[in-house]
Amino acid sequence: GVDLSRVEGTGPKGRILADDVKAHVKRLLSAGPAAPVGGASMPSVPDVDFAAFGPIERRPLSRIQKIAGPRLHASWVNVPHVTQFDESDITEMEAARRRLKDEAEGRGIKLTPLAFVMRACVQALQAFPHFCSSLDPKSGELVLKKYLHLGFAADTPGGLVVPVLRDADRKDVYELARELASLSEKARAGKLTAEQMQGGCFTISSLGGIGGTAFTPIIIAPVVAILGVSRAVQRPVYQNDVLVPRLMLPLSLSYDHRVIDGADAVRFTSFLGQALADVQGLLRAIP
Ligand code: COA
Repeated sequence: GVDLSRVEGTGPKGRILADDVKAHVKRLLSAGPAAPVGGASMPSVPDVDFAAFGPIERRPLSRIQKIAGPRLHASWVNVPHVTQFDESDITEMEAARRRLKDEAEGRGIKLTPLAFVMRACVQALQAFPHFCSSLDPKSGELVLKKYLHLGFAADTPGGLVVPVLRDADRKDVYELARELASLSEKARAGKLTAEQMQGGCFTISSLGGIGGTAFTPIIIAPVVAILGVSRAVQRPVYQNDVLVPRLMLPLSLSYDHRVIDGADAVRFTSFLGQALADVQGLLRAIP
């Protein structure tokens, strides 16, 4: 029953051995059946024999990739994504961060832009609570969370993980920066506990430390939105008919269109932009 044209032969001159057939069947069985979507099954990608075109090397996926891949795929096929792009003027925010950086470092805190973005996200999520919700597939209701735990994508040698910073609404920018650093360090060392990767209400994926102008992040369902942050660049902006250099931060918000409308998404990114421009608001102590 095996389609031999899809089996990679490892025998002399590429001949297919009995073991190749067994390995092929095992791979098919462990991949499971293609999930039906809307009554139709997913079309499959052709199984190509790359060795027929030149030398290749096979490498197993990391443990994290094996876990994260199916979750990302499930989000990709189940959630109708839209990505809203925007940018925020962070000239004053960055000036304040630079001013406060050394003093914070003296207290063992690395004050990165992401901590400020998190603080602004908390304010935006408090103003737009349905960005902090999930759809209950059984009842069809929207579950609004009264807690505010923020997930953030962290790049690690084993792959992408999403640590969760708990009760972000009760923490000022310094505390957010401190926890961000400690959770990222744990993520890189592969030492996050299961609890430290659960319960996120909203996700932030910052590639700003690396580069890029914009991207379309995949929502990590069951959350309904993810904010992508790219590299801030200084560029000329008109202010009262005069061109002035401003530091602009690109934002890419992917949202679940079943829960969030386009108008709300742009209201959310506009709010974020204003929050990021209000340095006093970002630095205000949490009561
Ligand atoms: N624009 C310009 N510079 C930025 C920036 C931005 N948006 N964001 C960070 N930087 C700068 C920081 O200021 C820092 O510079 P400094 O040391 O001179 O102050 C430098 O880039 C490095 O910052 P980083 O160490 O990355 O800290 P962070 O708090 O910004 O980010 C992580 C922490 C864990 C999110 C980050 O290290 C990471 O893993 N990012 C990748 C996430 C990812 O893979 N996402 C993909 C999901 S699809």
